[in-house]
Amino acid sequence: MKAGNGARLFINEVATRDGFQMESRFIPTDDKIALIDRLSALGYAKIEVTSFTSAKAIPALRDGEEVMQRIARRPGVVYTALVPNLRGAERALESRVDEFNIVMSTSETHNLANLRMTREQSFAQLAGVVALAKQAGVPVNVSLSCVFGCPMEGEVPLSAVLGWIDRFAALEVQGITLCDTTGMAFPTQVQAISEAVLARWPALAFTAHFHNTRGMGLANTVAAVEAGIRRLDMSLGGIGGCPYAPGATGNVATEDVAHMLQCMGYDTGMDLGGLIAAAAQLESLVQHELSGQVSRAGHRLTRHAPPADFNDIAERAHARPAHKENA
Ligand code: COA
Ligand code: ZN
Repeated sequence: MKAGNGARLFINEVATRDGFQMESRFIPTDDKIALIDRLSALGYAKIEVTSFTSAKAIPALRDGEEVMQRIARRPGVVYTALVPNLRGAERALESRVDEFNIVMSTSETHNLANLRMTREQSFAQLAGVVALAKQAGVPVNVSLSCVFGCPMEGEVPLSAVLGWIDRFAALEVQGITLCDTTGMAFPTQVQAISEAVLARWPALAFTAHFHNTRGMGLANTVAAVEAGIRRLDMSLGGIGGCPYAPGATGNVATEDVAHMLQCMGYDTGMDLGGLIAAAAQLESLVQHELSGQVSRAGHRLTRHAPPADFNDIAERAHARPAHKENA
């Protein structure tokens, strides 16, 4: 039976933000733009184009304005960017983003390491960003880091996670992304947290964001979707990671997740063949092997030729009686 039953899922690509921020090679601006233009045709609901962070903190994305301005925007695709503070929001607004993806961590230690602010200082900045967005008519999504655990603090209490969502809900943001920044989430935890937030804030658009650090990314995706989450962040080729979160590795790979969800009967809207071809281009850009698996193995029904001596094997087998007589 097909579990998905045709349910529509909304796929967000984060390779050009979460992915490129972690690459040691600076991806040339023209190549970033060409990749985004190619991805735009593949069925995504949203593409996180870049981030408007400090060039000292994230040198890989120092060309955010140029990329945002030069991509060809396809109607129906939301082009978003990560915004950590007011300066970032002003830059994002000038670049005419479709959405602010504002960011803070549910862990005090990770927030200080990543954003150099306490969580209260971040929230105060971000409340100003939300006010600016309202004036400008730009929707706001909040990416909450370390929802499923912090690589420095360990468990993050559910009460803290719910408390921060409550405060952003009071600011009337449109969406919340539950980020598993360093792959600490596990399926039953994902199910419990997803069910809790969906029941409590039915009007908020929730997204799940998994890193595959411990190989649980696909299982966590199934848990989130079965709990009712309909929006998912993922990264082509499985690149990605936060440079200020110890041990962080890539996101779940878009081609792997899309393939799995399509097999399960969900409607992802994604062009799997196009994703596999785009992953090959990405691999040449980042100049290292990608962790995504379906881009190498292909669709599960990819058919391979039998062994070279197959006809001989078959002939010999057919020449023998079907059943060995009992002696
Ligand atoms: N865009 C560009 N420049 C910015 C900026 C922004 N959004 N915010 C601050 N700056 C600049 C300031 O103008 C200042 O420049 P100067 O040194 O030339 O005067 C410098 O950065 C320091 O500013 P300050 O406000 O003191 O920032 P900070 O050093 O405390 O850093 C952040 C705070 C949030 C800007 C920085 O930590 C950051 O960009 N973090 C993002 C981390 C990230 O993206 N992680 C991965 C994704 S989760
Ligand atoms: Zn991430």
